[in-house]
Amino acid sequence: MNQYLPDAYTVRAAIALAVRAPSVHNTQPWEWRFSGRTVELRADARRHLRHTDPDGRDLLVSCGCVLHHFTVAAAALGWAAQIERLPEPGLLARITLVPHDTRDGDIALAAAIPRRRSDRRPFAERPLLVRDEVFLAKSATDHGALLRLLDDAPQLSALTGASLAARELHRADTDYGIELAAWSGRRYAPDGVPAQNAVHATEAPRVRDFADAQLADTAEPDGAALTVLATRGDEPADRLRAGEAASAVLLTATRLNLASCLVTEPLELTSTRALVRDCVLDGKLEPQLVVRVGYLPEGAAPLPATPRRPIGEVVRPFGHGYGVGLPIPAQLRRH
Ligand SMILES: Cc1cc2nc3c(=O)[nH]c(=O)nc-3n(C[C@H](O)[C@H](O)[C@H](O)COP(=O)(O)O)c2cc1C
Repeated sequence: MNQYLPDAYTVRAAIALAVRAPSVHNTQPWEWRFSGRTVELRADARRHLRHTDPDGRDLLVSCGCVLHHFTVAAAALGWAAQIERLPEPGLLARITLVPHDTRDGDIALAAAIPRRRSDRRPFAERPLLVRDEVFLAKSATDHGALLRLLDDAPQLSALTGASLAARELHRADTDYGIELAAWSGRRYAPDGVPAQNAVHATEAPRVRDFADAQLADTAEPDGAALTVLATRGDEPADRLRAGEAASAVLLTATRLNLASCLVTEPLELTSTRALVRDCVLDGKLEPQLVVRVGYLPEGAAPLPATPRRPIGEVVRPFGHGYGVGLPIPAQLRRH
């Protein structure tokens, strides 16, 4: 063993934890390669949702989430990730792993990864602690984004209006509906949104019309705090950063025992996204995601974890080799 070079089992362990990251419709649109201390992340364009996410924002944000999850997992395993973002066409990130003294905070954040869920149920009517608001906001700014808590009625009604309008436009879009039906209502599938994690759509704007939703919505008002995660620009690097920041916010929320869920439907259409940009962010920042955060009602059962594809499907050969010291799995030999 070389203490300055991560072995393949360590890198694969970090990737296995990283892929617990959230992704739009649980498409898991990423591909990993590694050799020695170098790890590369690419988007898997075959998993791009063309009708839900025509400009590819959700795809890049999802990859940003998995990138941040990877850095958290690697830190807990004793490796700091030095990241070059978009170093060449087609490559989202080149990561160099260097030895790192794991701290308690690294372990605590990594431990949040398997506990996090996208929870679409109504949250309790209980305001966030100011201390927690500060932690969440800081986790976004630490990653180059801004988390704005919507705390006045005009902003909240603008977001509700944008969400309802997006839902109506999507309901009229057959291609969107076919894509949503194909990627949700899943049972025993390694990807897509499982029926058991989706909430039966009511008129609540927080809920996307996922197919065959099994969780009954209650008539309770939703007490979630609504936040918008924004960046200064809207270039691919900004979207990737937004995903990293969203991942940091979600893991911080989990650490604080807060429930959370990302919502992007109102940002997937040009007109409703413009409404959020102008009415919620004063036209000055680019909205990338809505993040619902809050407390589950007393006694709410934990949600099951959503499935992930086997690690062998997301790790590809690097150059002529495959990782370090591991045999090429049979299903990859064809590629
Ligand atoms: C870019 C992005 C957009 C998302 N948009 C929504 C959304 O609009 N509504 C929703 O309920 N969940 C949304 N999600 C959450 C995913 O559906 C969820 O991460 C995925 O199903 C995996 O489940 P998990 O987060 O519980 O592991 C989004 C996630 C990402 C990364």
